[in-house]
Amino acid sequence: MSQQTPGSTAMQAPQGDAFENLSQENRRFAPSAEFAANAVVTAGEYAEADADRPAFWAKQARELLSWSKDFTQTLDWSNPPFAKWFVGGEINAAYNALDRHVEAGHGDRVAIYFEGEPGDTRTYTYAQLTEEVKKAANAFESLGVTKGDRVAVYLPMIPEAVITLLACARIGAIHSVVFGGFSAEALRSRIDDAEAKLVVTADGTYRRGKPSALKPAVDDALAHDGHTVQNVVVVKRNGQDVDWHEGRDHWWADTVGAASAEHTAVGHDAEHPLFILYTSGTTGKPKGILHTTGGYLTQGAYTHKAVFDLHPETDVYWCTADVGWITGHSYVAYAPLINGATQVMYEGTPDSPHQGRWWEIVEKYKVSILYTAPTAIRTFMKWGKEIPAKSDLSSIRVLGSVGEPINPEAWMWYREVIGGNGGRKQTPAPIVDTWWQTETGAQMIAPLPGVTATKPGSAQVPLPGIAVDVVDELGETVPNGHGGFLVIREPWPAMLRGIWGDPERFKETYWSRFESMYFAGDGAKKDEDGDIWLLGRVDDVMNISGHRLSTAEIESALVSHPAVAEAAVVGAADETTGQAVVAFVILRGDAVDTGDDIVQELRNHVSKEIGPIAKPKTILVVPELPKTRSGKIMRRLLKDVAEGREVGDATTLADNTVMAQIARSLKK
Ligand code: WTA
Repeated sequence: MSQQTPGSTAMQAPQGDAFENLSQENRRFAPSAEFAANAVVTAGEYAEADADRPAFWAKQARELLSWSKDFTQTLDWSNPPFAKWFVGGEINAAYNALDRHVEAGHGDRVAIYFEGEPGDTRTYTYAQLTEEVKKAANAFESLGVTKGDRVAVYLPMIPEAVITLLACARIGAIHSVVFGGFSAEALRSRIDDAEAKLVVTADGTYRRGKPSALKPAVDDALAHDGHTVQNVVVVKRNGQDVDWHEGRDHWWADTVGAASAEHTAVGHDAEHPLFILYTSGTTGKPKGILHTTGGYLTQGAYTHKAVFDLHPETDVYWCTADVGWITGHSYVAYAPLINGATQVMYEGTPDSPHQGRWWEIVEKYKVSILYTAPTAIRTFMKWGKEIPAKSDLSSIRVLGSVGEPINPEAWMWYREVIGGNGGRKQTPAPIVDTWWQTETGAQMIAPLPGVTATKPGSAQVPLPGIAVDVVDELGETVPNGHGGFLVIREPWPAMLRGIWGDPERFKETYWSRFESMYFAGDGAKKDEDGDIWLLGRVDDVMNISGHRLSTAEIESALVSHPAVAEAAVVGAADETTGQAVVAFVILRGDAVDTGDDIVQELRNHVSKEIGPIAKPKTILVVPELPKTRSGKIMRRLLKDVAEGREVGDATTLADNTVMAQIARSLKK
């Protein structure tokens, strides 16, 4: 386990050379006069928030949300790191996302344009979506779900996912979404940790033109005694055969479909838990990140409006994230609907049935705001700009990026090919690179598209009301032109309220590294202008295609295979996916090295234990692993090997012949 002490191998200071290249970046793209003139927020927000941070957030909370009972205190920080925002206030998230827009006369506005992978489509107006959520709320209540109960959600990107989340929020049940790409085993551990009472799933979904299954994983996850699940609601999506557990399983159409469309939303306490979302940390066990209601909704709504310059009457917004990740929670299920926006939801992969699918969707729905991840952008770069050029992308006016650092080349390509409609547009759309985490709940660092002159590759500035800093090993602010660790100095409304069932781990993970500061786990640099550049994780967390995975989690999956004695995993730089999983394994004495066969078997084993996203790209069978005298694996040296570099300083190894042994075994 990583004790995060200065200089430990678990947390290396960010490397300088990455920044040397970045610091030469001097291109700037100021907002056009027209964009700035019509922008929903102005530069004045920074000064206003600086003058009185809580007052700024109190104003946003009252302007952007409808409270059934006003709050009496904006922030209670008397017991750090346990914050309470909007104390005494009562609010219903679903009412804010739905009913109030209908009451305000916007019932006919489209809330969701759904595009299924096979090409089927559905449109929900705000009035229709409100009705569906009311029915689902009634159905879940009829299955015995009450306020505070946990509901596990294992669904593809279909409207029922949003409906389920909002129905839970409406009745005060706490949802825990598990990404559909996670395995039965990963699902089981999350259901058990949260002690879920209900599971909502689907028979399956479509992946690259083929039906794929989800329900069997739920059946497997519940195939042990002593679990807490009483009912499973199943959406029929692709009509494949499913095993059926009479009494426990219910078709969505029979329960939700038959439920009453009358349901009155009541306010819940501002600090009532809204959801748990599991994410990878530095240990093998995923952490259940807990978010509550009032602060989460406030910061989500504010950032969605300000960072994307949202004009809800005219914009069509599309965030490509899956609802299984935090981006799909904050910027698909909650903020866009709270803000009354019209959004696109797409079920499938970008290359189905062909590599131009996304751009056809943009043209078809006239998407004006697109929010996606650098991995996707780099993939499109590889496929070539002729593909997006076949579609009319002139509707796009704001582009967002999230999940991993975006390299300047990808940034420029995104701007010119997508934001510039392949060169056909005189003024390309501004790009907002947004830094945040599952833990922060909402965006924290990003330019404002009508205010900031953007810089390729940099997330640049903390948002109004957010106190981000870059500090050295001792927690001192670094001067411009220097690198260090990204921290957050003041509490923020959407901050996590803890780790489900483990308050000590919450303190230790985020608040113990630096006194009175939240430590994000990221390395960062400030350039000469004071703009922030994110340099990737400094702990044992990897970022594969914008998805968080922990080295320890994959290592423990590998050693659970009978042929493996020891394993070490590193994230190696990868041109498309940002990082790729590279595993070094020592086989047990009695295991036979069958070359490719054992490698394939181990890759499948990881897929079964965690999910296909965790499958190592490369597995290297080695005779030894580099360890310090205290037995800690020196991943830094393995990373050098995985990235094809000369191996760095190995003087602290217990056995200094190990690296040579590894090199010899890899040459073979
Ligand atoms: C990384 C995703 C650079 C970072 C919203 C963070 C980024 C982790 C950016 C959180 C960005 C996210 N630039 N790095 N714009 N956005 N990251 O919890 O390392 O899935 O700590 O939340 O992704 O990943 P998570």
